[in-house]
Amino acid sequence: MKLAIEARSLLQAEGDVLVVGGYAEESRLAPAVAALDRALKGLLSEVVRAEKFEGKPEQIAYVHTAGGLPAKRVLVVGLGKRREVDAERVRRAAAAALRRARDLGAKIVSIALLGDGLPPKVSAQALAEGALLGAYTFDRYKREKNEKAVDELRVVDPKGRQEAAIKDGLRLGELFAGATCFARDLVNEPANRVTPTHLAKVAEQIAKDGRLRVKIYDRADCQKLGMGAYLGVAQGSQEPPKFIHLTYVPRDRARRKIAIIGKGITFDSGGLDLKTADGMRTMKDDMSGAAAVLAIMRSLPALGLPLEVHGLIAATENMPSGTAQRPGDIVRALNGTTIEIGNTDAEGRLTLADAMAYAVKEVKPQEIIDLATLTSAIVVALGNLCSGVMWNDKPLADRVLAAAEAAGERMWPLPLIDEYKELLKSDVADLNNVGPRGGGALTAGIFLREFAGSTPWVHLDIAGTAFTEKDLPLGPKGGTGVGVRTLLTYLMEEARRQ
Ligand code: BES
Ligand code: ZN
Ligand code: ZN
Repeated sequence: MKLAIEARSLLQAEGDVLVVGGYAEESRLAPAVAALDRALKGLLSEVVRAEKFEGKPEQIAYVHTAGGLPAKRVLVVGLGKRREVDAERVRRAAAAALRRARDLGAKIVSIALLGDGLPPKVSAQALAEGALLGAYTFDRYKREKNEKAVDELRVVDPKGRQEAAIKDGLRLGELFAGATCFARDLVNEPANRVTPTHLAKVAEQIAKDGRLRVKIYDRADCQKLGMGAYLGVAQGSQEPPKFIHLTYVPRDRARRKIAIIGKGITFDSGGLDLKTADGMRTMKDDMSGAAAVLAIMRSLPALGLPLEVHGLIAATENMPSGTAQRPGDIVRALNGTTIEIGNTDAEGRLTLADAMAYAVKEVKPQEIIDLATLTSAIVVALGNLCSGVMWNDKPLADRVLAAAEAAGERMWPLPLIDEYKELLKSDVADLNNVGPRGGGALTAGIFLREFAGSTPWVHLDIAGTAFTEKDLPLGPKGGTGVGVRTLLTYLMEEARRQ
């Protein structure tokens, strides 16, 4: 879908569908929409009334203009109450409107800058994100593809005065949505295709296209580095592990050095502590953190931020076999910590432990952010629409939470209660990799915290949000690409900070 700006009034806008916004609890149409209604001799207001259009978020009513206007149809999309309108309302309205326009067979769609009162750049970005995320599909393995697609979205700028801001917003929206869809594709691809080797190839391609540095460590390299926790997980699989280190170095001097780490289990069977059939069904999504990291690293050259960003992924499968790690085994992580394997299905924290220890020792970043489909306990706590946030540094967590809010991704803080460290005690090693069932997301976070040392660190548990089993306002069933927009927003904000 091509994005463009059109400096003309709504009355002059062309296209197969012209999208405008409608507010709830307002008896009259907004002035610009009322002008369209007059041109249509009251048809629009009549249909709005007859269809009981109340301006509720994402509600839709439309009319054929039959020559009354240059646009072939006018589609009104609900934005809810005027004073409640924010970027997320605009995203969802744009997504709903574009899906409907697509299903109507529209090729060219004109759209008003939805959400009066928002800065034009914010509206434009939200509009582009909503349109592109809402139209996402994954059908490359299906004979029957959705042939309908909108080719061009034209944002109408009646005053023609906001062109620069709208252009900036559209560019960012396109970038954010493109990155999110890149992550979605990687998650939706099955585990027989997305292996650790495949992730390494994707990283190499990203490096080549964007002039990033890339280093891929194979099993022997990881052994030399002392990544016993990571390799213990990898030893049960026929697929060779790949530890991925991507680096973005800005042209100008970097203000800060940030490491982002993604859990990269390309399939989680549970290992010898085998999952149930149902528990395994969606475990191709256990590399969603890695997908987000790759998507973010891929976007950095276009953003050109004055930050040095390191993307780290300890990619492996978690499989049961004659060579698999056993419950009761003891492994030694890169930082020397010994770990008793209480459960082979708590593998993510083992791979992340070595990735974090590697970051601290080899990268020495000012901060570490990890994204991981880490625990089913976070799903119990927060469900499928909210990710969990844990940290060893409150100011850093506050900045990430603020970025999540701006990006429209729900994230909520959880406490890493010091006393719970007791729950990870082992009789034979420094740590056990599991605690009791209660507080499972927190003990996982506390386990990870041990490997951050004194580096400020934030952990995002995306186990509930990385994959959706029902269609959502901003995307269909499957991988969601969660975390990408939050961290891109975060990095942009960091770049602006003194
Ligand atoms: N990958 C899973 C967590 C998960 C569960 C992600 C559901 C997405 C949806 C993780 O490796 C795991 O199996 N965790 C176990 C840990 C337990 C054995 C301590 C869990 O949370 O059940
Ligand atoms: Zn697991
Ligand atoms: Zn897992």
